[in-house]
Amino acid sequence: MFLGEFILSITNNETYKEKMTISKIKKAKHEKKLTVITAYDALFAKLFEQDSDMILVGDSLNHSFAGAQDTLSATLDQMIYHTKAVCAGAPNSFVICDMPFGTYTNEEKALESCVQVYAQTQAAAVKIEGGEERAHIVKHLTSNCIAVMGHIGLMPQYVRSEGGYKVRGKTPEDIEQLVRDAKAIEAAGAFCIVLEGVKTEAAKAITQAVKIPIIGIGAGNVTDGQVLVWSDMLGFFEAFKPKFVRRYLNGGELIRQAVKQYKEDVESGLFPSKEEEY
Ligand code: KIV
Repeated sequence: MFLGEFILSITNNETYKEKMTISKIKKAKHEKKLTVITAYDALFAKLFEQDSDMILVGDSLNHSFAGAQDTLSATLDQMIYHTKAVCAGAPNSFVICDMPFGTYTNEEKALESCVQVYAQTQAAAVKIEGGEERAHIVKHLTSNCIAVMGHIGLMPQYVRSEGGYKVRGKTPEDIEQLVRDAKAIEAAGAFCIVLEGVKTEAAKAITQAVKIPIIGIGAGNVTDGQVLVWSDMLGFFEAFKPKFVRRYLNGGELIRQAVKQYKEDVESGLFPSKEEEY
């Protein structure tokens, strides 16, 4: 960090955070567990910046922001808008933009979509769902200077074609397939892989099979790091709680209580007080 930047960060009363790099992320495999959280806006990204190693702008925002049943209708423009906001709120974070459904169906289309993300945001990387069958797309991106985080196991963008969200790695054959997926994505140049919704035994085999970090979600504690969706772990998404989610805050309940108090204060005339007047 330059001296000027350092002074500016102190005068802004912000804690300086050294930005993660791809080499540090890869090195972490044998040194420390990586903490990843999703964020969709500047306000929350700023709150998450200090204690996360990477921030993922997940297409799961389609549930929170659009109230949709799945992630499939998220668009590239929406992902770019939210990624810009996250990068603005957490400028010292390694931010990853989740590529939405249909934007990487072939090599050319994928590169065009990712170039738009790089050109319009400060994202450090993109995330692509898919195993062996999509390795050629990952290869095309990484050979064209796009940093890629893979995503294998339970892949939410496959929900309609698979007929639901299904936990993977239940049979030796499926574990073998998942190991092949991880190896293919690693060989294609991805710097790390999200592994979602798999049996712990499978997660262990996959984590040991590759040299890049495996970031688990619903994959037990054998992976090189964890990722959670912010609204799940902070208790804002209340419709249901997947087994793998730990709620660190009852956000929904706290908000309801605060808004109830506000209403009571407005109705009773306690808000605003003399101190809150001009
Ligand atoms: O969209 C998302 O938030 C994700 C995480 C579940 C990894 O892909």
